[in-house]
Amino acid sequence: EASQQNLNLRRQAKKCFQLAGLPVRGLGNARQQTPAQGGTREDDMADLDDIKDGKDWGRDRPADTSRFFLKGNAHHDWGMKARLSQVFRPDTGRTVMLAFDHGYFQGPTTGLERLDLTIAPLAAHADVLMCTRGGLRSSIPPEALKPVVLRCSAGNSILTELSNELVSVEIDDAIRLGASAMAAQVYIGAEYEHKSIANVVKLIDAGTRYGIPTMAVTGVGKAMVRDARYFGLATRIAAEIGAQFVKSYYVDDGFERITLGCPVPIVIAGGKKLPEREALEMAYRAIDQGAAGVDMGRNVFQSTDPVAMLAALAAVVHEGRTGAEGYELFQDLHGKAAA
Ligand code: 5RP
Repeated sequence: EASQQNLNLRRQAKKCFQLAGLPVRGLGNARQQTPAQGGTREDDMADLDDIKDGKDWGRDRPADTSRFFLKGNAHHDWGMKARLSQVFRPDTGRTVMLAFDHGYFQGPTTGLERLDLTIAPLAAHADVLMCTRGGLRSSIPPEALKPVVLRCSAGNSILTELSNELVSVEIDDAIRLGASAMAAQVYIGAEYEHKSIANVVKLIDAGTRYGIPTMAVTGVGKAMVRDARYFGLATRIAAEIGAQFVKSYYVDDGFERITLGCPVPIVIAGGKKLPEREALEMAYRAIDQGAAGVDMGRNVFQSTDPVAMLAALAAVVHEGRTGAEGYELFQDLHGKAAA
């Protein structure tokens, strides 16, 4: 009876594939081959044998986005896609997120001493806010009406091991806050790598149940090398465990390989404060090489004019302006919002 059911299921699947115009080859008849039949033995499958660097990035063959505007996210449910469309602008496929979650391990760092004074007025100028639930509830008025990517991990400080995090928000509170997405760090290669991956997996499972996307943040510990090989590894792992989008740092050498090798959208962090022109050029290069936006903190809230900086970032991210053009806009707007 079981095999008849199996057969019926295969027939139904075949019919669906045919109706959808998809190839039916390989649907169901394959059986595991024994070693004598040319199949693999268990000891031939060691995960660490013969790992070769990727070579074929298909640069001239972009990922198919015809069924949903964000790559790698076409097969989610309606709610998940609706929330992703709050985070990424459907008309450009990109986003300018303002990150001010730093206090969860850095304390009141420069620019974030008073979230109510420095960040709340910026909310209107960003596409999305990325913050902790404490920062949000205490200091950002709900009337700001901005999509929120909620930091859902914590458990360390600048004085301790950064990778030792836990999930810090239950899914029901993320729902209560109306979060458009959740976020937590994966610390690949760090002391608590396994635990950090488990945290993100837990968020992805809970988020998938309720249609809330998860952004995996590729965290870097104090002693970790920040190059294309590391971020290529970390962002790909994040996508493979099911993150709907990923946050990475930009690297000068090989960033395009990171975006091509990651099947879901990548947004970049800004990192330490740079002169505005350099930060805008970095944003431009990231977008040009396949990033879907920025999730910047210090380069915005520590800028001499955060409102002008957000406008210049939006011009680079959404309008395809170069870093130099973005900087020109920054200079034009500088000081005008405050005047
Ligand atoms: C920390 C984060 C921060 O949000 C991220 O680093 C963005 O801020 P910045 O642009 O200042 O680097 O995810 O882990």
